[in-house]
Amino acid sequence: MGARKKITVVGAGNVGATAAHWLASKELGDVVLVDIVEGVPQGKALDLAEAAPVEGYDVRLIGTNGYDETTDSDVVIITAGLARKPGMSRDDLLRTNADIVGKVVDECVKRSPNSILVIVSNPLDAMCQVALRRSGFPKHRVVGMAGVLDSARMRCFLAEALDVSVENVTAFVLGGHGDTMVPLPRYSTCAGIPVTELLSKEQIDAIVKRTAGGGAEIVNLLKTGSAYYAPSAAAVEMTESILKDKKKILPCAAYLEGEYGINGLYVGVPCKLGAKGLEQVIEITLTAEERIALQKSAAAVQELIDVLGI
Ligand code: NAI
Ligand code: 2OP
Repeated sequence: MGARKKITVVGAGNVGATAAHWLASKELGDVVLVDIVEGVPQGKALDLAEAAPVEGYDVRLIGTNGYDETTDSDVVIITAGLARKPGMSRDDLLRTNADIVGKVVDECVKRSPNSILVIVSNPLDAMCQVALRRSGFPKHRVVGMAGVLDSARMRCFLAEALDVSVENVTAFVLGGHGDTMVPLPRYSTCAGIPVTELLSKEQIDAIVKRTAGGGAEIVNLLKTGSAYYAPSAAAVEMTESILKDKKKILPCAAYLEGEYGINGLYVGVPCKLGAKGLEQVIEITLTAEERIALQKSAAAVQELIDVLGI
């Protein structure tokens, strides 16, 4: 085995291929891109490999329709899934993607039993639960990407409103990845100053609303698909924190067992990501109102889990 880390990305669509691009350009490790469509992962991996001399990254990129090339991956990012099609109910999509994610997990964990799974496929929190159950992995090796994306959207809108660098702005979003997510302005700051001291309530309310509808805003513009630059960047930030043992505190979907009063369910909470995967769930004090919003969000995730019966 080489000295480089190895990252598998399953699903070579918009999110998966763009994740491969960020992973390579940051030289985080060799990348294996997997998809069921013949030629697509091979073509995209080759195209990215041919960009390497120009961009100056030294990583190996492989595209495949099988899984043998994924053996001994350190991190597996799962973006495989279908988008909702006309006539398909939310529950149909839920079952279809659960089936896809379940099969992908089987193939990956067989060959990379020590890997850490970063789930991206939607509906995110439910797909994490599928991956946890199917993999048999401990909970610290199955995490979901949603909060980094949702909080990046909030940071983008806050920085614009404040006319400051995005690097100065932090934001916190808790809960499931959906309409019920819980953006927390109280814990969102600009250079350490709570944004509640810098912006009016009306401005903050508008940003909170736009954040919760951030996914739909992009879908309405693109019309033929959903967001992928920010989602893939978010999955790669999580992967980087794991591979480099950075121990960043990032909002991720984590399997809770009592934290925040939630039991046996994936919900977005602040997590420390390092070499072991999810190393700690950070519990912060919530107001009664925030706690109720989080419980409501957890209930929305539970409904999907009940449909799947897992
Ligand atoms: P896409 O349609 O561009 O790509 C999905 C890819 O998965 C396709 O290339 C398809 O061929 C592949 N695929 C389907 N079944 C497969 C299987 N059994 N094995 C391997 N590959 C398979 O979609 P996009 O935009 O890349 O999104 C991917 C997923 O990520 C969707 O479920 C989407 O809703 C979700 N998503 C989640 C976000 C989050 O915040 N958690 C943000 C953005 C997207
Ligand atoms: C998003 O938030 C579709 O979940 C995806 O953009």
